[in-house]
Amino acid sequence: MAQETTALDALIRNVPKAELHVHVEGTLEPELMFEFARRNSLELPYRTVEVARAAYSFGSLRSFLDLYYQGAAVLQEERDFYELTRAYLERANAQRVRHVELFFDPQIHTARGVPFEVVARGIGRALEDAQAEWGMTSRLIMCFLRDLGPEAALATLEEALPHAQELVAVGLDSAEVGHPPDDFEEVFRRARERGLLAVAHAGEEGPPEFVRQALDQLRARRIDHGVRALEDPDLVERLVRERVPLTVCPLSNVKLGVVSSLRAHPLRRMLELGLMVTVNSDDPAYFGGYITENFLAAQRALDLTREQILTLARNSYAAAFVDEGRRRQLEDELQAVASEF
Ligand code: HPA
Ligand code: ZN
Repeated sequence: MAQETTALDALIRNVPKAELHVHVEGTLEPELMFEFARRNSLELPYRTVEVARAAYSFGSLRSFLDLYYQGAAVLQEERDFYELTRAYLERANAQRVRHVELFFDPQIHTARGVPFEVVARGIGRALEDAQAEWGMTSRLIMCFLRDLGPEAALATLEEALPHAQELVAVGLDSAEVGHPPDDFEEVFRRARERGLLAVAHAGEEGPPEFVRQALDQLRARRIDHGVRALEDPDLVERLVRERVPLTVCPLSNVKLGVVSSLRAHPLRRMLELGLMVTVNSDDPAYFGGYITENFLAAQRALDLTREQILTLARNSYAAAFVDEGRRRQLEDELQAVASEF
């Protein structure tokens, strides 16, 4: 058993990964938060890094979001966005993330007077460097904060359009309950008309109906989280049939109370049902682990098999917004690793 676990750990650490659900603002470790606060002459509500970390205890999505927005307020200059993104990418590279699709929430920053361009340029430069240095490919996804409503989302889309070529998709995040995907039909239609793809957080705290709306009204190509879809067998059948990817975030779901424990997480059941699930980190600085820690914790809690680990990796390539050539490269890298571990 111990030997088996060790072998699976090695496979998990080495398998090439595509991370499809990670918010750049959610990668802000307290150490960097303190550094940016000092540099930008801002006060933090925490005295030390340890006190900040100890405050990261959430009973719900809302209580997390309040701290997440507060933390992100230390980001002001292009250099801050560059360094934040760079720090995430260094960790991701060390965990064999070979392709990343990064979410960002421009409204958190533009509401504080930080120009859209400053945010996009800082993040974008870090992504370019990662490709040049490590061959890590990436895409950028702009999310709308659903609790700010559809008008604010439309204004944000207008601001973003000059940068549309730097984006692959639009997404929808923040507080789900009370903010159905339906409300955002028009802004998503306009984004699609400008060549952007669509994804949406749905079925995290919200009901299965929100997953359906994300597919039908927003034309979402992937559902972020989607774990509550399991409450609706007809929806599950559709997601399997249409091979809709669900970007699942195990540690996030535990920290935000979406599931009661990792052992109660439906990831394994989702795989067994034939759903196209992937494993992701969501907001790793806040939820206690990056992508490898999510894989390791889920494997242990749910006794995932070697085949299931490989399926999760392959699903991440299949669900990524990349061309067939890149998908094949990732598959080839996986083959090489699978024959060694
Ligand atoms: N759900 C909704 N909004 C978010 C999340 C999440 O898990 N992380 C960052 N913004
Ligand atoms: Zn998320």
